[in-house]
Amino acid sequence: MPRSKIAGIGMYVPKNVVTNNDLKKYMDTSDEWIQERTGIKERRYADRTKETTATMGIEAAKIAIERAGITPQDIDFIVFATICPDYYFPGCGVLVQRAMKMKEVGALDVRDQCSGFIYALSTADQFIRTGMYKNILVVASEKHSFGLDFSTRGRNITVIFGDGAGAVVLQPTDDENRGILSTHLHCDGNNAEILAMYNPGTHANYWTNGNKLADFNEAEIGEMFMSHAMIDHAQNFPNMDGPTVFKIAVEKFPEVIMEALNANNYQTSDLRLLIPHQANLRISQFVQKKLRLTDEQVYNNIQKYGNTTAASIPIALCEAYEMGKIKEGDLVCLAAFGSGFTWASALLKW
Ligand code: UT7
Repeated sequence: MPRSKIAGIGMYVPKNVVTNNDLKKYMDTSDEWIQERTGIKERRYADRTKETTATMGIEAAKIAIERAGITPQDIDFIVFATICPDYYFPGCGVLVQRAMKMKEVGALDVRDQCSGFIYALSTADQFIRTGMYKNILVVASEKHSFGLDFSTRGRNITVIFGDGAGAVVLQPTDDENRGILSTHLHCDGNNAEILAMYNPGTHANYWTNGNKLADFNEAEIGEMFMSHAMIDHAQNFPNMDGPTVFKIAVEKFPEVIMEALNANNYQTSDLRLLIPHQANLRISQFVQKKLRLTDEQVYNNIQKYGNTTAASIPIALCEAYEMGKIKEGDLVCLAAFGSGFTWASALLKW
């Protein structure tokens, strides 16, 4: 059975740089607070009307496809990971197929938040290993800036997120020294509501565990996905208990990284590069310390882009590759933790 290799990689970030001080125009925050708690100095915001999650993903995909030495017409399957789709439905995968004039191939949208890229990569990997497809485009893209609460009420979340996209092309390889060695996917739905955007949704004010979301009466709940009262209560924005997420993230990141290394009989010292999902620089530093990794073994770029959810790993991987930090045959680990909770890792030889 062949393995899959990353044959091409690309990234796209919007031109518009938004500094921490720029955010002070909208909310009560400070550059010191944001840098100290998250490491973030600036992030990019997409053009409000001209750029979407799909269009950014397409820009990243163009580069990945060109670097793989193929054309969009060679792609035989699309996997698209995002939490900010252009439409509630259909998903972004079909928009990529249309815009890039691809054949009438399958397109799958993945909804696994910060772990979305690794879930998408793992799915694509299975299709390559079974021989079903030869050129799979995996895209991860997020236009967070269009759906954040820019008042002080939303500051704990809004300052963290940024926009951007990354993409890879997966192809089969028989080379023993290259390719995706294994992927490891997990979830624990017990904390589903701790980091979530409740609306639009079909829950009608009750969490699936029976707890009431807010004190709405029947009329306020409405009959559609979202009512005026829900908007008045800011339920169209993401919601997060940051400290709880932080506490579990620093447990699960090392666990899932070690799971990938152990599954392939490697040790942390064998790692050329760890690319953790860029959630918070303090989380990455905690993981680095716990696993006794050197500064050279961990790549972070949250300082420049903030947290771009599903896109953060392919953006960081692409940058590290372009900077010459990864060479053919190097052992690379990707790891993520986020809403769901979901967490995941992938171990690969570049
Ligand atoms: O990628 C998805 C997964 N997400 C994560 O992994 C996020 C994990 N969590 C975190 O990164 C951190 O919890 C945050 C960066 C979100 C928050 O940092 P924290 O150190 O946990 O702060 P906190 O939420 O405990 O808030 C501390 C204080 C509060 O004020 P009081 O109650 O102590 O007076 C907040 O209201 O900081 C306040 N605060 C802010 N102040 C200035 C919250 N957000 C801001 C802000 N600017 N943007």
